[in-house]
Amino acid sequence: MSRAAFFILALLLLACRVRADNDVFPTDFDSADVNIGERLFLETRFSQYFFTNCGGNVNATIAGDPVVATLMTTSGSVPGPFAGQAMNCRQCHIVDEEGYGDFGNLTLGNRTYADFARRSPVPSRDDGQTQTPRNALTLVDALIPRNTPLFLHTDGQFASVHDLIIGTLTGRNYGWKPGEYATAVHHIANVIRNDDGAGYLAFFARDARWRIEYTDLDTYANVFSGFTNYNGSYITDPRSLTDFLIAPQYVLDMRSASDDQILDTAASLIEAYLRNLFFSQATNGLDFNGNGTPVFNGSPYDAFLAKNNLPAIPDTNETAAQYSRRLAQLVNQLVCPQYVTNLIDGEFVTQTQAFQFGPEELKGLKIFLADRSSPPAARRYGAGNCATCHSPPVFTDFIFHNTGASQEEYDAIHGTNSFNALLVPALAERQTNYDAYLPPTSSHPLATGIFETPPILTNSGAADLGLWNVYANPDFPAPQAGLQQIVPQLLGFISPQIDQVEMKDGFFEFSGTNGMPGGVYYILASTNLILPMVGWAVTATNTFDQNGNFNASILIVPGTPTFFRLSLRLPTPDEVLPNTLARFKTPTLRDLSQSDPYLHTGRMNALEDVIQFYEEFSAKARNGEVRNADPELSNISLDDSAVAPLAAFLRSLNEDYTD
Ligand code: HEC
Ligand code: HEC
Repeated sequence: MSRAAFFILALLLLACRVRADNDVFPTDFDSADVNIGERLFLETRFSQYFFTNCGGNVNATIAGDPVVATLMTTSGSVPGPFAGQAMNCRQCHIVDEEGYGDFGNLTLGNRTYADFARRSPVPSRDDGQTQTPRNALTLVDALIPRNTPLFLHTDGQFASVHDLIIGTLTGRNYGWKPGEYATAVHHIANVIRNDDGAGYLAFFARDARWRIEYTDLDTYANVFSGFTNYNGSYITDPRSLTDFLIAPQYVLDMRSASDDQILDTAASLIEAYLRNLFFSQATNGLDFNGNGTPVFNGSPYDAFLAKNNLPAIPDTNETAAQYSRRLAQLVNQLVCPQYVTNLIDGEFVTQTQAFQFGPEELKGLKIFLADRSSPPAARRYGAGNCATCHSPPVFTDFIFHNTGASQEEYDAIHGTNSFNALLVPALAERQTNYDAYLPPTSSHPLATGIFETPPILTNSGAADLGLWNVYANPDFPAPQAGLQQIVPQLLGFISPQIDQVEMKDGFFEFSGTNGMPGGVYYILASTNLILPMVGWAVTATNTFDQNGNFNASILIVPGTPTFFRLSLRLPTPDEVLPNTLARFKTPTLRDLSQSDPYLHTGRMNALEDVIQFYEEFSAKARNGEVRNADPELSNISLDDSAVAPLAAFLRSLNEDYTD
């Protein structure tokens, strides 16, 4: 037999063997998606710095981007975990790198996918930008199921995590300027296409866990194509590929895949990874993809609820507000609370505090849950009104409020009450001069973003107005439908209540309370009995009186059965816009010891500082000194004696988060 013939026979034999194995090898697509998602989350070559320094070779070794050489903290900087490499998601969303866990260095401690900086350094370009406008958000529980639309970033700029990932990979955090989108997409696709699987992640990062042992098969092209040889089999024995075989719906034909398809698959895999990040919870809670209802069990607070048979989650059909009130009642009725004691009920490994929930934490919990409508006994130590926005069990309502955080920073720089004097345009003016007022995007690369800029002494026009930048902004179409849906909540509309209904002399009459004082409402009628949801027409336009009361009387056409409905006139965007000023998304309060400093400004080092901030700004709000204050801010009523118990309670929400 000639050598060539022998070689072909051997190949055929190998192919047969591989094909036979295909039927029996184990797959675990969900885990593989998460595994590869993490590799992409850590990938340092997608950045603009790598692009300009690699000379067109995506496998080149470059001098590291100076921005990752160090890690910024509130008290100086330390060597960065990615020194010598370039920007990646983990640089700003750290987990165990500086702490405890398989890959930690036991220094600064664990993070819940946040960093240690007040604002995160970004790669240097010639645009003067040195840092992110806001403090990095924790990613644990960021995608947890909710009853409100999904909003991401504190200003709600993204309505889907897929959009956020693509926006980030091709955005300023990775060094790309708004006009460089196409270059970024093409470069990212090229890294995936041409990666030789022999780089930093495969060899040096996190135990080289993305390397298929003793082979050089772990290129992105192989991963994205499902390790196919394009002839119906795998390029190697698939039994070695379980951790690397991504779900079939993400698999691409890498011989023809477009740049956009490749970026899409990369984003889907990173998304799978993010969906898997949540705080400790019972096994019957969220599934691997983040669907379900979490029953948290990792913190002393959770242990306290369990020990006292207190409900850990709302009942079916119970709103977050109803659950918080019920919990407050039950907590206040506890005659003989069963406390949580260190070493007996649990023990922390990554936290320096005791695993405890005692009388001080309980006092703090009561203050946290107490609001304006609580009975006097329940507000004895103060009414934090905290649960109104930080509703348990996730400790957020997932929407936007203005607690005064932007004003606090602005006034600290420009003087008391200067934020109140800041000139902010109305909708009409804002829309006619996008570049002057709104954030840069690929449609408006030259926009100043002056109102998503941290305040600075040399330019009193710069401020961070949060949601104001996104609401009704034509360059951010995705979140608008969701924002429209929450407008009534943003404006604090309560549903009017119909108290009385009667038929009198051929008139249909009704009256009620609880409307928006002075607000407009419509009475809609439909005579379509089969499909009462269609055919609604306005039969009357009325207003609520100054106390929110209303009554109406409508002549009925005899013999024509009619449905009636009351509908509120929602304010127009130009009326809503001023109300969005300086609103930011409510963050979760779980495990805050691993995501300091606090607030979007990163200006608060300790929990005590945040509580004192609330004390000060709720008093200011009652005096009318907080610009566009959330109505609930003035309902916070605390004095200095509440600081220690509230802080103790917040610390009881800490847990050992390692990955
Ligand atoms: C240079 C630092 C930096 C990098 C790199 C970075 N982020 Fe972020 N991330 C931030 C900051 C800062 C915020 C908060 C932004 C805001 O509120 O405006 C944030 C917010 C987020 C959020 C929103 C969380 C929420 O609750 O709304 C997600 C999700 C996220 N980042 C994922 C990623 C992913 C995925 C990557 C990599 C593709 C990444 N980030 C890279 C700094 C960074
Ligand atoms: C009106 C709604 C509202 C109320 C009431 C409220 N918060 Fe907040 N909380 C927020 C929002 C919104 C933020 C983010 C503010 C920002 O960064 O601009 C926040 C931020 C925080 C933070 C910082 C978390 C982080 O990760 O940076 C803590 C801690 C906190 N609140 C605790 C409390 C406590 C304790 C109370 C009760 C005394 C309370 N909050 C009352 C809405 C509210």
